[in-house]
Amino acid sequence: MTEASRVAVVTGGASVIGRKTVDRLVADDWNVLVADFNGIAGEALLAEFDGERAARIDFVPTDVFDEAQVEAAVTRAVDRFGGLDAMVNNAGVGGAFGPITEVEVEDWGYTFAVVTRGVFLGTKHAARVMKAAGRGGAIVNTASLAGISGGAGPQAYSAAKAGVINFTRAVAVELAPHRIRVNSVSPGFIRTPILGSGAKHMEKLLGGVQPWPEVGEPSDVASVIVFLLGADSGFVTGESINVDGGVTAAGPGSATPSEAIRLLEDSSASRADRPDRSPSSGTASQRPRGRREGAAAAGLPPHTGRRPRTVARLPGAPRRRPRPHPCGGVRGPGHHRSCGRTAGRPRPPGRPTAARHRP
Ligand code: NAI
Repeated sequence: MTEASRVAVVTGGASVIGRKTVDRLVADDWNVLVADFNGIAGEALLAEFDGERAARIDFVPTDVFDEAQVEAAVTRAVDRFGGLDAMVNNAGVGGAFGPITEVEVEDWGYTFAVVTRGVFLGTKHAARVMKAAGRGGAIVNTASLAGISGGAGPQAYSAAKAGVINFTRAVAVELAPHRIRVNSVSPGFIRTPILGSGAKHMEKLLGGVQPWPEVGEPSDVASVIVFLLGADSGFVTGESINVDGGVTAAGPGSATPSEAIRLLEDSSASRADRPDRSPSSGTASQRPRGRREGAAAAGLPPHTGRRPRTVARLPGAPRRRPRPHPCGGVRGPGHHRSCGRTAGRPRPPGRPTAARHRP
């Protein structure tokens, strides 16, 4: 395979950081398959590529939680473009949030299902193909500043991203003999499109936390991802690179990250709660407006907010993930598909208990 026909799969490639990464890769002559849950944004992305570039981009709706879908996305990239050189496990959600005493087990599980299991599945199937082909490869996982500190995100998200960082190291050691490099990037406070003119306000609030004067751009993260995929980082593996304007380097400052996040959330949430009157453009127009978006603008991962006992999700996504059951089937509200029993959470006193599931 020539340098000009390298192949990458990018999960979560239909929005912001993933999208910038896709743009950079295509500009650098990569063939790219975008695997994203958001079909509307994915199709819109495809429509934006024309001429010779259209031949080098593909999209397949993919839920990174689902092993069969992740495997199918990798297989499609190989079938369409003739191999696989790089995997970017970038899809993420803010997940469960609220006081720890009120976080629901299902919401905790959902966060890990997307953030950590998604990275595991992408790595597993990419590495399988790369090992079989015997020509090496590169995998980059998008972690977060929240994965290395206690004040930069909700508990579940922070724990899940910490898992991504150390999973990356462990797999890098295992795959190094096959010349497959595995690294992670940890973005800090990143500007998202909804922020618009609010960026200056955000920068003022960041003053006591982030040494660099401006907030990060999605392209700042994308360029590090692209560097880690390319030959210039050929001897770098098992690394986690912070893209955070010096937040981690500064350590404790005049304000804690969580104070800044609270201020940023409050300011950008009220901004984002206003109806959007700006002309629709790019992927931002595909995204839900409102408080979740405000949190994303605040440098938090997208879809985080301050409402307790809930979980961030995409429009149209199920409120609760189907949960695997010990018998190997899937349980969810109602029927248990594999063993045929009824599933459900224990009912409160006074409510019928016949539907309670026993493994
Ligand atoms: P975004 O919300 O703009 O993009 C995330 C993408 O992941 C979306 O296209 C979404 O459809 C996709 N996605 C969500 N759940 C999925 C699933 N189950 N299967 C497949 N695709 C799914 O977020 P952004 O800002 O581009 O973030 C990208 C990555 O960077 C995420 O992993 C996030 O946690 C991480 N990050 C972002 C920061 C930020 O300030 N924006 C800061 C630190 C980390």
